Amino acid sequence: MITAGPTREYIDPVRFISNPSTGKMGYALASSVCARGHQAILVSGPTCLEAPRRAKTIPVISADDMHRAVFENLQGVDAVIMAAAVSDFKPASHARLKIKKDRASLHLALKRNPDILHVLGKMKHSYYLVGFAAETDHVMLHAQQKLLKKNLDMIVANRVDREDTGFGSDFNEAVLLFKEGKNKRIAKTSKTRLADVVVREILSHIDRGQPSHFC
Ligand code: CTP
Repeated sequence: MITAGPTREYIDPVRFISNPSTGKMGYALASSVCARGHQAILVSGPTCLEAPRRAKTIPVISADDMHRAVFENLQGVDAVIMAAAVSDFKPASHARLKIKKDRASLHLALKRNPDILHVLGKMKHSYYLVGFAAETDHVMLHAQQKLLKKNLDMIVANRVDREDTGFGSDFNEAVLLFKEGKNKRIAKTSKTRLADVVVREILSHIDRGQPSHFC
């Protein structure tokens, strides 16, 4: 199972909070999984991308939708890759009608969204669990903390404050950190190639005797 793209947290029917994720990394992972003859379940936030034809694609909008879709489709999955840029907060209330600008300022109260990866880590049984760490500073430290806190098998640490890699770019530069303590640095490369490296690493850690399901 692969999650991809941003989530949208609606304030009113025409406005939302989100982030610049385009879904390219998650879609590249799903394509790589399918290209190797495995089944991919792609849980995708809103993107402009075409899903790989052989993937089972589940479109979602909000973090709550993504949370639901992941857990409804988890049975039988061999690996979960959370590549989505999930919004950590959502508006505390959702206005049914468009909010009018009849006031000088507007205060928006936010509340926490579920941390899907953290829940997956707490209840982990047979699946191999991979997260992405989107960082602007102290990349290795923050990624290491997330690896441990979320009980992951691998985390892909990448910077999201550069124009030539990360959000929206066709390229990325990353460090793969494994729970066994090993690290693997991937110099700037295409997201397609990075996806292949990540998928190959996962396959080398799980039983490849049978076709797998990724979520
Ligand atoms: N993630 C998640 N649910 C959330 C937030 C994040 O499942 N509500 C997942 C992401 O898909 C990613 C990993 O957790 O695989 C790390 O996400 P990141 O945004 O780097 O960090 P956070 O855990 O949100 O922590 P912080 O924003 O404080 O850096």
